[in-house]
Amino acid sequence: MTQRLAGKIAVVTGGALGIGGGISRRLAAAGATVVLNDIDEAAAAATAGEITAGGGRCHTLVGDIRKPEVVEALRAAALRAGDGRIDVLVNNVGDFRPASRTFLHSTEAQWQELYEVNLLHVFRVTRALLPVMVEQRSGAVVNNSTVEAFRGIPGHAVYSAYNAGVSAFTKSLAVEVGQHGVRVNAIAPDLADTSQTPAAAMLRGRDPALIRTWLPLGRFGVADDYAAVVEFLASDDARFVTGHTIPVDGGTLAASGWYGRADRKGWTNMPNEA
Ligand SMILES: NC(=O)c1ccc[n+]([C@@H]2O[C@H](COP(=O)([O-])OP(=O)(O)OC[C@H]3O[C@@H](n4cnc5c(N)ncnc54)[C@H](O)[C@@H]3O)[C@@H](O)[C@H]2O)c1
Repeated sequence: MTQRLAGKIAVVTGGALGIGGGISRRLAAAGATVVLNDIDEAAAAATAGEITAGGGRCHTLVGDIRKPEVVEALRAAALRAGDGRIDVLVNNVGDFRPASRTFLHSTEAQWQELYEVNLLHVFRVTRALLPVMVEQRSGAVVNNSTVEAFRGIPGHAVYSAYNAGVSAFTKSLAVEVGQHGVRVNAIAPDLADTSQTPAAAMLRGRDPALIRTWLPLGRFGVADDYAAVVEFLASDDARFVTGHTIPVDGGTLAASGWYGRADRKGWTNMPNEA
């Protein structure tokens, strides 16, 4: 089978663990040279080592993507790796923490942290790398949003607002840069079994047999479920797709609904809960 990203240079932020780790492995397996940024040095080295041991190509740039100097270093590392080319950018870093019980309990300091980890770096990294894509008249940006950009989630109003921002940015930028041969899309994950949202924690005290009642495909997602869609969006197979956020959620957005718990102790989207 032909590798659909053969010869491409792909930058992945937060590319060591979780969904980002799956994306780095997928894009490398599809033939891309991956430039993996992560804040976790050991995890970055482990994922890069795994990729290269399997015959893939991967460079690492360790650092906190919220820092402008790390964004600049990432740009330089990508240009070095690609000899001046950058074909794919995956803005994957994001986090729903710090969370508060309700919006009324949230603080401005939390809003700022959520802004910096979910949205601000997406602007910065994109603005740093986009000129290279515009100049070469080709490129694909894939952002990582969330289903909560489209579905309300109690307790996380600010997180969902910033991710709606990621999806709106995706749409508007796509319109702006299509004329330069650059496509911009996003994925909206739900229920990935990662260290940020471990399935074991979500299932604690619940009957796993009832997963099918609130998750139509009947299981949690694994990193490669999300990475497969990112690979598609990054590749020429998606050459006529731009400006969209594709839910990768096992059907939860289609089926979703939040319910006030009968005991009035907050909310649940798992109707089997009392
Ligand atoms: N897990 C889910 O169910 C879910 C649902 C919706 C959206 N998402 C989104 O998917 C993306 C990845 O989620 P995940 O569950 O894989 O997360 P994760 O926390 O399991 O992994 C995040 C990766 O990014 C790295 N990272 C974190 N902060 C960083 C920073 N400031 N600079 C550089 N690297 C950093 C971590 O070291 C790790 O390798 C996020 O944008 C998240 O909001 C996840």
